[in-house]
Amino acid sequence: MIISVIGSGYVGLVSGACFADFGHEVICVDKATDKIAKLQAGEIPIYEPGLDALVESNCAAGRLSFTTDLQEAVAKADVVFIAVGTPSRRGDGHADLSYVYAASKEIAAAMNGYTVVVTKSTVPVGTGDEVERIIAETNPEAAFDVVSNPEFLREGAAIDDFKRPDRIVVGTDVARARDVMSEVYRPLYLNQSPLVFTSRRTSELIKYAANAFLAMKITFINEIADLSEAVGANVQDVARGIGLDNRIGSKFLHAGPGYGGSCFPKDTLALVKTAQDNSSPVRLIETTCSINDQRKRSMAKKVVAALSGDVRAKKIAVLGLTFKPNTDDMRDSPALSIVQALQDHGAQVHAYDPEGMESAAELMENVHFGADAYSVCEGASAVVIVTEWNAFRALDFGRLKESLAAPIMVDLRNIYRREELEKHGFQYHCVGRPDQEIR
Ligand code: UDX
Repeated sequence: MIISVIGSGYVGLVSGACFADFGHEVICVDKATDKIAKLQAGEIPIYEPGLDALVESNCAAGRLSFTTDLQEAVAKADVVFIAVGTPSRRGDGHADLSYVYAASKEIAAAMNGYTVVVTKSTVPVGTGDEVERIIAETNPEAAFDVVSNPEFLREGAAIDDFKRPDRIVVGTDVARARDVMSEVYRPLYLNQSPLVFTSRRTSELIKYAANAFLAMKITFINEIADLSEAVGANVQDVARGIGLDNRIGSKFLHAGPGYGGSCFPKDTLALVKTAQDNSSPVRLIETTCSINDQRKRSMAKKVVAALSGDVRAKKIAVLGLTFKPNTDDMRDSPALSIVQALQDHGAQVHAYDPEGMESAAELMENVHFGADAYSVCEGASAVVIVTEWNAFRALDFGRLKESLAAPIMVDLRNIYRREELEKHGFQYHCVGRPDQEIR
């Protein structure tokens, strides 16, 4: 089976490499000539564990190639995946579908024989209908079906998520397209990954509903963390106590500084807009979005409080900038809001991140970037852990204390135990685990 993937960004690249690894012939397409040139030279433009090796081995096996020539790639293909970006439209939060529609037009003009066109990009309900309309209008002779097949990849674990998915959702009512999609995912199907066939609109909604639910779950535990602090309870024990109930489940109950990333903030907002447009508001999600926005900034208050209410002209060391570990992605990272709020309070922020400093430098002003976790703490009045990279999970406390001007740690990801830090003479502040748990 020959598969073309339009858009060699995060989703396109991971999907393309994994499909090639299943044994399909895959052609990844992108308009950005520099990106394609890099990929052809074996350079991976994003940080994703395992992706470089996967791309290399599949290119070497002749199953994976990269091109800017959409026309040729589509003409050859049995299946064309649209994996272009759908950013939030400036001003109104709607998903910007201009890249999806432009790709649809180009695909329509290039198609040759029966082709299944699959939207992999996260697109609002009804987008598949519009893609179908555009293709039929651009090329009335074309034999094709449009299918929705959302991705549920987590950055940093994308390859594993792709190869061992909880489920694969395929939205189409057409038997021929369903057969083609079963063939595309045959290796997973043989591994007993559930393939969920639905209508196209249902499939489109599943993607948004899944992300919104997870965002809501995180926001729920974040509010319970605040309440835990207020009443002298421990949010990690609450999470364990409720998560062991199978109906709730233990995942996505880690309290922290709020969710960020390329999906949750954008997709929750897009769902809110779709719901409003259809006069069926999703008030829980509206509230989730606003709580999360406020939360990210309000985390700076924890730091200010830890320094007795004044951070003016004080050096604060921030460990971790990306929205989560194992990625270089800074999109909607809580660090952006927290650092800005600290600076607004007059602090001088010094920061270190294992992978994210290059992209952070483009988004942050007046931040001094350090070479490692210890040098960034040199002379700082406090150290704040914003992202739970493994490199920060076993810090040498003696060395840290020597570097810092004051032994104060604000751990916004709850990666340490209070007793451990206090034993080393630190003042320790975290999320949802108060100084004094009331027994
Ligand atoms: C998410 C979805 O998990 C994935 O299925 C979808 O395809 C894209 O969006 P991703 O954004 O890569 O994936 O990261 P994820 O691991 O889900 O984390 C998102 C954000 O939530 C991060 O900022 C993370 O720190 C935060 N989070 C996650 C918490 O604060 N607590 C948790 O318990 C889990």
